[in-house]
Formats: sequence, C-alpha cells, structure tokens
Amino acid sequence: MPYANAVGPERGGIDLELSLEQDDDWWEVEALFDHAFAPGREALSSYRLRDDVSPVKELCLVSRDETGIIGGAIRYWPVRVGGAAALLLGPVAVHATRQGEGLGRLLIEASLERADDWERVMLVGDAPYYGRFGFQKLKDVEMPPPTNPDRVLGRELRPGAWQGVTGPVEKWAGT
Ligand SMILES: CC(C)(COP(=O)(O)OP(=O)(O)OC[C@H]1O[C@@H](n2cnc3c(N)ncnc32)[C@H](O)[C@@H]1OP(=O)(O)O)[C@@H](O)C(=O)NCCC(=O)NCCS
Repeated sequence: MPYANAVGPERGGIDLELSLEQDDDWWEVEALFDHAFAPGREALSSYRLRDDVSPVKELCLVSRDETGIIGGAIRYWPVRVGGAAALLLGPVAVHATRQGEGLGRLLIEASLERADDWERVMLVGDAPYYGRFGFQKLKDVEMPPPTNPDRVLGRELRPGAWQGVTGPVEKWAGT
C-alpha cells in the first residue's frame, strides 16, 4: 500500500517509495535495525516501553528502492509522560549504503505529517541530528535508567503541548 511516491523535488528527488509498514515487513525492518544499531539494541531501556505494546501502525513507514530493497524505516510507539499521551519516535534507521541522501529526513518528516491525532512526540537520540527537525531537550522528562538525560528530546505537535508535561516516561496502558 504505497503512502507517497518519494520521487520529485518536494521529496528531494529520492528514488525510494514510502509505504506504511505491513505485517509482512516486520522481520525485514528488524534486520535493518539490527544492522544499523549496535548488537543488543533491545537491551536499551526504551525497549521496555515497547514490550507487549503495539506500535502506532499508521505512522510506521518503510522505504524501498525500485528493486524492492529496503532503504530505511521508522516506527513509533505510544507512551505516557506524567499521564499525558506522547509518541515515542524510533527506531529509525537508514541502510548504510543510503545514508546522507535525505532519507532519514524524509522518513521523520513524512511520518510526523501524519501524526494529526497526537500532541507531542519524544525520542532518545542525538540532539545535533534531531535539532534540525525542531526537537529539543526535555528537561523534566525522565526515561527509564540508564538513559543520558541530554538525549531525551521532544517536539510539540500542537503549540504548548510539552508545557507542564513532566515526570517519568511510562508504558502505554490503553486510552
Ligand atoms: C541517523 C540516520 C537515521 C540518518 O539518516 P540519513 O538518511 O543518513 O540522514 P539525512 O540524509 O536525512 O541527513 C544527513 C545529515 O545528518 C547528519 N547526521 C546523521 N547522523 C547524525 C548524528 N547521529 N548526529 C548528528 N548529525 C547526524 C549527517 O552528517 C548529514 O549532515 P549534513 O546534512 O549536514 O550533511 C542514519 O544515519 C542511521 O540510520 N544511522 C544509524 C542508526 C541511528 O543512529 N538511528 C538514529 C537513532 S538516534
């Protein structure tokens, strides 16, 4: 089910197509993440927030080239921060052979464009990269340890959405 054709000036001319991730894509995307991240990525504390929780399927995108090879993918999970709903962005990865072409930007921007039902998004990542998408350090939001607090970043999807939202990041437990 194609989501958006990535060719064209508005997509930076990238010759990859974005699609919503389908159930059949799951293991191929897992392999991409295994390749992109250090071994043992699932030991990271952020994965404890994902255990037994379904991803936000309408925001999970994959990109494939014309031969069907996967170039990048992004997934999201729901979490709660001080009781408020938030999106947890990630994992996001681009295959080593496709990095630096703007695909990471495309995956992040195209998925966030779809996040109409959400007020705020957070992630654990490198501020120098995510700063370019408007993510800033969330001062009083605590990820499960051990997480470097400087890597806990957030972006408002509605004006003021992070104001007053503080506390531990907790697993999603329904609406
Ligand atoms: C991070 C990642 C998703 C970016 O994807 P990408 O398609 O290469 O990124 P883009 O083409 O949109 O952007 C490239 C730019 O981001 C910069 N960049 C990439 N990773 C960066 C990082 N960790 N910190 C700072 N800048 C970074 C590049 O230097 C480049 O800068 P330039 O535009 O000034 O030349 C990709 O490099 C990746 O999969 N890395 C391994 C997995 C990973 O670290 N995922 C993120 C978890 S926090």
